[in-house]
Amino acid sequence: MESWRKKEFLFWAAAAVVALLLFVLVLKYGRELRNRNDRALSTFMAGDPHEGGRVFSDKGCGRCHAIAGVGGSQGGGKARDLAEMPNENLSLNELATAMWNHAPDMWKRMGDEKLEYPRLSETEVTNLFAFLYTIRYVNENGNPDHGAEVFSSKGCIQCHAIQGQGARVGPDLANNPSLQLPFIWAQEMWNHAPRMEELIRQKHLPWPKFEDNEMVDLLSYVQNMNAGVRQGFEVFPADSAHGQEIFREKGCIVCHAVDGEGGKIGPDLGQNQKVPHKVTQLGGWMWNHSPEMWQIMKSKGIERPRFEGREMPDLIAYLYTIHYFDDPGNVQSGDEVYKKKGCAMCHGENGQGGKGGPAIQQLKGKFSVVRMAYTMWQHGPQMYARAQQQNIPWPKFQGNDMANLIAFLNSSKL
Ligand code: HEC
Ligand code: HEC
Ligand code: HEC
Ligand code: HEC
Repeated sequence: MESWRKKEFLFWAAAAVVALLLFVLVLKYGRELRNRNDRALSTFMAGDPHEGGRVFSDKGCGRCHAIAGVGGSQGGGKARDLAEMPNENLSLNELATAMWNHAPDMWKRMGDEKLEYPRLSETEVTNLFAFLYTIRYVNENGNPDHGAEVFSSKGCIQCHAIQGQGARVGPDLANNPSLQLPFIWAQEMWNHAPRMEELIRQKHLPWPKFEDNEMVDLLSYVQNMNAGVRQGFEVFPADSAHGQEIFREKGCIVCHAVDGEGGKIGPDLGQNQKVPHKVTQLGGWMWNHSPEMWQIMKSKGIERPRFEGREMPDLIAYLYTIHYFDDPGNVQSGDEVYKKKGCAMCHGENGQGGKGGPAIQQLKGKFSVVRMAYTMWQHGPQMYARAQQQNIPWPKFQGNDMANLIAFLNSSKL
């Protein structure tokens, strides 16, 4: 089987799904932004992941960085695969921080390899970020060998065959090509859970629960074994605003609050809840709790919701929206960052400019994560050169530093 082509196809199919999803997230956030009057991320609104993908290859990022294992082999040793960012790099802020902190390594490598320095406009950075964000959470490169083990250790094999291998109580999971898409997988797992639960109970098997990457690995096994048609999958544009309606309509809100609004029977699914990072994991998350949820539903006379068409993608888009954006930064802490990281030394206490660097006061109100990344690409090398002359270390950020700094730079305290 041409597993590479399949991988590539799946990658782009998934990228397309999430590109649309992201677009909607961005629109939705646009609305919220106006409500909250929080400008910190406003420039991201224009981000287009497709365009961003083009920027990524046009500007030569792909020379050093692979994306999900593709590309990035130039010269002495690879830079990080940008689809495989560490888990904690989930939000925009964290992505920009990682890039900023590694900038000097990157410039050095570019110098060593005599690559042309990429000049990026602010729009290009915006699109690039949309792209980088997108690919990180659709990259579901599981381990199919481990997935095969999961398939038997979780007891799926007791009822399901894959390409004829296994039991025939349930359908052969390699026969339904649409199951290869994470959204559909999540949806079908949910929809079929009641019948499976009944049978699982009859067989006195435990309810299989999934941890970490188990569900992703399992899906990756199913994808690999699925020789079926790979073309013509319907790509679902996900609409998180509609997802929010579904959350109400399907009665989730009867038991779950989101940031305090809604029922108290199940856990609050808002900001403080740790959400799995991948679509498939999110499916697994709901699956794990399915029997308990269902039982309470029965006792309350709530019908167990089924999902059709675009409902699950929309719901998942909504559950992600809650977690995508960083909390706004803190002006006071940002003031400290500005001084501690040496910005004040070159740009002046109030951004009025100084010996080391130009005035930045006039940019007040325009700072955002994207603007910071743009600054890094556009002005970073000169800043770095100046810092080296003056024996100032390259300022590195941790945790919420960048968000706080941005809040400060936009405040009347600058
Ligand atoms: C000449 C090679 C090279 C090129 C070209 C390059 N980078 Fe990098 N990049 C690096 C190195 C080296 C690092 C730091 C170490 C690492 O992450 O592997 C890095 C780090 C990063 C990081 C931080 C990753 C993390 O979480 O640690 C991001 C994000 C990034 N680069 C984005 C880009 C983008 C976007 C472009 C194109 C505009 C680009 N890079 C072009 C070599 C390169
Ligand atoms: C006790 C038997 C049993 C076990 C164990 C079981 N299933 Fe099922 N499964 C079924 C049956 C029966 C159906 C069809 C249910 C229906 O029609 O609603 C099904 C349906 C499905 C579907 C939908 C298939 C489609 O083509 O739409 C998926 C996906 C699935 N199961 C995955 C799994 C996974 C993954 C496991 C292991 C964690 C598992 N099942 C464990 C019996 C089982
Ligand atoms: C009748 C009440 C009820 C309804 C309706 C309900 N849930 Fe739940 N849900 C629960 C309970 C209770 C738990 C915790 C179960 C446990 O502890 O295992 C839970 C757990 C979860 C979890 C895991 C949370 C965690 O802390 O790990 C997710 C995700 C979830 N539900 C999503 C949904 C979605 C989406 C819907 C709507 C389609 C929904 N729930 C409908 C009661 C409900
Ligand atoms: C060693 C001195 C130095 C330090 C430290 C320094 N900068 Fe700079 N900065 C400069 C110089 C020099 C430029 C102009 C570079 C150029 O012309 O491309 C600059 C440019 C900028 C710009 C772009 C201004 C414009 O007109 O678009 C911003 C924004 C900025 N710096 C913010 C910061 C922040 C925030 C920090 C702290 C994290 C910082 N700088 C730390 C020297 C420094």
